[in-house]
Amino acid sequence: MQIHRPHSDVTVLNDHLPVPTIGFLPINAFVLHAAEPVVVDTGVVENRDQYLADVFSIVEPEDIRWVFISHDDVDHTGNLNALMELAPNATAIVNWFMVDRMGATLAAPPTRQRWIGDGESFEVGDRTLHAVRPPVFDSPTTRGLYDSKTGVYWSSDSFAAPMLTPAATVSDFDPDFWHEGQHTFDRYVSPWLELVDDRRFQAQVDRVQALAPTAMAGCHTPAILGRDRVDAAIAATRLSPTAEIQPQPDQAVLDQIQLAIDGIAA
Ligand SMILES: [Fe+2]
Ligand SMILES: [Fe+2]
Repeated sequence: MQIHRPHSDVTVLNDHLPVPTIGFLPINAFVLHAAEPVVVDTGVVENRDQYLADVFSIVEPEDIRWVFISHDDVDHTGNLNALMELAPNATAIVNWFMVDRMGATLAAPPTRQRWIGDGESFEVGDRTLHAVRPPVFDSPTTRGLYDSKTGVYWSSDSFAAPMLTPAATVSDFDPDFWHEGQHTFDRYVSPWLELVDDRRFQAQVDRVQALAPTAMAGCHTPAILGRDRVDAAIAATRLSPTAEIQPQPDQAVLDQIQLAIDGIAA
């Protein structure tokens, strides 16, 4: 886990998991140092101790006022219950369908929830935060989060890319590698991109571009800093529905993994 502070009001917690045939997948979270501090997404349960230690190294548990969950996947909710238990003044920002889909896996009672949907906004003391669904997503509950004060946009599963080795920012990437990774990730996460009317898809990308983010952070991307790189990420996303991509790992890959495990065991 690396802690990266691209803006005085923003801390990105960079974590990653190894993924067979791909390299590493970023698994990030985000802290917004607003007057009412906000933690955005909660990582995977496998990294609970590190996640909690890192969050509490930059914000005191009792100071956390909001925990914004972008959607109900396990790499975003893995430590939600643990964080809510340790942060007594926090309210979980979720939505109705997230609560329904998470069922008994969500421990926060209704009195510690606030429901915010796509297109809605909320105040955190010194700024307004806007929930804006990114153009690529794998859960119907997804909303990104745009901070009107810093211009930073949390993109959830969108604008994402795998890494050959762990990296803190996309400036470490060759641009072609970066954008090919984006296309692959987009189509794996949202295979329905092949089915959508392109004008309607582009209109969804336009919603994010209209925010004119100064930087983007997301669960599965190194930080995207500066307007030029934000624009490059947005331009690449526009091509994702029709880009050539590699097929997903299949049984032949699992056979190799099993052989390697057997070899180690022997
Ligand atoms: Fe997801
Ligand atoms: Fe995710």
